[in-house]
Amino acid sequence: MKKKIHDFFEMKNKREPITFITSYDYPTATFVEKAGIDMILVGDSLGMCIYGYDGTMPVTMDQMIAHSDAVRRGAPNTFVIGDMPFLSYQPSDQVAVENAGRFFKESGVDAIKLEGGVRVASRIRAIVEAGMLVMGHIGLTPQSSSQLGGFKAQGRTLESAKAQIDDALAVQEAGAAMILLEAIPPEVSGYIRKTLSIPVLSIGAGLDCDGQLLIVSDALGIFEAFTPKFVKRYAEIAKVSTEALSAYCKDVKSGAFPETKHTYGMIPEERVKFEKWAKSKRS
Ligand code: KIV
Repeated sequence: MKKKIHDFFEMKNKREPITFITSYDYPTATFVEKAGIDMILVGDSLGMCIYGYDGTMPVTMDQMIAHSDAVRRGAPNTFVIGDMPFLSYQPSDQVAVENAGRFFKESGVDAIKLEGGVRVASRIRAIVEAGMLVMGHIGLTPQSSSQLGGFKAQGRTLESAKAQIDDALAVQEAGAAMILLEAIPPEVSGYIRKTLSIPVLSIGAGLDCDGQLLIVSDALGIFEAFTPKFVKRYAEIAKVSTEALSAYCKDVKSGAFPETKHTYGMIPEERVKFEKWAKSKRS
């Protein structure tokens, strides 16, 4: 049974952890759904994990829609959240509503996520007033990492912790249905979880949240360029894939592949006719 937003509120109230992971394609989404994970984020982290960009800035709405559409088909019974890419909501409330609407109309997501607190409150309000579910995202917000001085944890001083709390309150006040905290100390995220009535998800924000998110490419060991401190690896897919591809390469070079079982035999009486015909052509 596909979970709805009220189920996540119930899980928060019962202190039942919400499981959350990114996906960018159809096959991975099928694995996530089979594993029983509660929510999927089609994150703009696909800029790095799928397209090999240096960051998330170049990602477009068209790319996000295409990947969300594939994920939706792979996980029809999982709550899917589309991530608003850079400049899809920053220019104005109107632009934000139009692009959020594209996600729902063109890829069938259940909610959208956008980065920022106080400064995007009017964007969140406008999207919610247009009838869509929003997840906020504060702390280390990759789209503004240059303003944050890089991919740095936030809320590590009293002043910064208070700014995170103000952002979290602004996101809830603007009408967001959930919030994601990225790279914030557990003391601060625990305070936010207890203060907010909406579900508070964590990526690198510790255990005292209502659920946990990981980037699937980190969790499965697919993305090897860098690994943030908060990642736990559950598989080594890059290693296994490279080993398998090297074995394939070796087999082709040595003639060990393909074997007879990998080929299509002729119908026996046709083979007799074919051999006769081929012999006549050779002589
Ligand atoms: O794009 C993404 O996957 C994200 C996470 C880093 C939270 O926004």
